[in-house]
Amino acid sequence: MTQEKKIAVGSDHAGFELKENLKPFLKELGYEIVDFGTNTSDSVDYPLIAKSLATSVASKNQDKGILICGTGIGMSIAANKIKGIIAAHCYDPEIAKLSRQHNNSNILTLGGRITNLDLSKEIIKTWLETKFEGGRHLRRVQEIRDLER
Ligand code: RB5
Repeated sequence: MTQEKKIAVGSDHAGFELKENLKPFLKELGYEIVDFGTNTSDSVDYPLIAKSLATSVASKNQDKGILICGTGIGMSIAANKIKGIIAAHCYDPEIAKLSRQHNNSNILTLGGRITNLDLSKEIIKTWLETKFEGGRHLRRVQEIRDLER
């Protein structure tokens, strides 16, 4: 299986149910899932999950990842601390599309307490199908990379 068909998923307790409910959908889309937990609804600190998934995506073990916490905000803040990661907190398909076209996001974050299953599926499908536009956006993404140095 190619790297492009592997997707990393992770959540804290507040995103656990949505993560589990999304896994069959991701399989239907043809993805092999690499699950970074959590594996129960017991309370767990989201930065720890964000760190392990984002480190793996930054190392190119998977092309992209999805992180879910209660709001999606904590996961995006934490994942964006890892060099090579552009995590986008998305709450509708249009934002998800733009985060790929303009920002080349490689991690999508969702709020398990904010975004329902059907909308999450729409957001994910759009995000996975949309290509980075490059051009002037490539220069800007490179300028973000420069901030990591
Ligand atoms: C956990 O209660 C909650 O704070 C977390 O899931 C997330 O929403 C943080 O941003």
